[in-house]
Amino acid sequence: MEESVKILTDESEAKISSCATISDLNDIRVRVLGKNGELTALLKSMKDLPPEKRPQAGKIVNAAREKLEQAIAARQAELEQIELDKRLRDEKIDISIDMRQPASGGLHPLTIMRNRITEFFSSLGFVIADSPEIETDYYNFEALNIPADHPAREMQDTFFITENILLRSQTSAGQVRMMEKVKPPIKMLSPGRVFRADEADATHSPVFHQVEGLVVDKGITMCDLKGILDLFAQKFFGKNTKTRFRPSYFPFTEPSVEVDASCSQCGGKGCRVCKGTGWIEILGAGMVNRNVLQNCGINPDEYTGFAFGVGLDRITNIIFGINSLRTVFENDVRFLKQFN
Ligand code: DAH
Repeated sequence: MEESVKILTDESEAKISSCATISDLNDIRVRVLGKNGELTALLKSMKDLPPEKRPQAGKIVNAAREKLEQAIAARQAELEQIELDKRLRDEKIDISIDMRQPASGGLHPLTIMRNRITEFFSSLGFVIADSPEIETDYYNFEALNIPADHPAREMQDTFFITENILLRSQTSAGQVRMMEKVKPPIKMLSPGRVFRADEADATHSPVFHQVEGLVVDKGITMCDLKGILDLFAQKFFGKNTKTRFRPSYFPFTEPSVEVDASCSQCGGKGCRVCKGTGWIEILGAGMVNRNVLQNCGINPDEYTGFAFGVGLDRITNIIFGINSLRTVFENDVRFLKQFN
């Protein structure tokens, strides 16, 4: 009996220490220590021994059982540790790997310029105002002193939706809406899209952008206009920039001017950018026509005002050195990325 227990114990210990998985270890446990296990069978066979030998045999079997249980528990702990180490190794995340950065968007150059311009005029106390892109003939033309038969309508080939409703051809329509709503003093800046039935080429597009400015108060003169536009030109084209006013004609201003800035590229000497003239045309402006003030319920004997209209696309192209309107509207990502 003692001999059989020793053999079983030695064999089992060898199997336990060489077994490679927890499930194999469980099999060994069942086969040796289970209800029908080999050691249990030896315990059961004690009834065949003479009674005086049984206590001694019982001790031997129990000691063997305890020894094997400990061996199993120790091996189980080892195997669990091996398994954990393996999982830690296999599931390790290498945080040192270079991740591809997600591409981040940027602002469109027109948006960049619009923001810069609105920020500049806000800092001078101008209110930024929106007005509709779908307008009536009245706001786009009639109230701006451009009646139905006026030849100035020819200059702006307009998209009419009905006889009376159109896509605004100029942000000047916003002046009228503002003066109808707000009594002077008024200082307004209104950026937005305008539409004209033009064929697209390097300098034309059926959709483009303007920024309209309007100031109305008592005693406003052309000197105020000149002062503001000088500041504007110096802000965007450099400290030494000068402006010059050339007489022009717009139905809604009298007198009207076209405003040039001295070329920042050559300082006025003449270069490719200014086509050799030393000057770059930047906007149209003038003193608000009496008729327009009157149409908006403002007494022209009491109030005067100036207005100006900047071509946003043009200014953007000059500032960023872009040579075609098409490039600005095509939205080729390789082009847009340069402004990130
Ligand atoms: N609306 C004019 C255009 O589209 C630009 C303009 C000129 C606006 C003179 C003005 C202005 O407010 O005073 O050509």
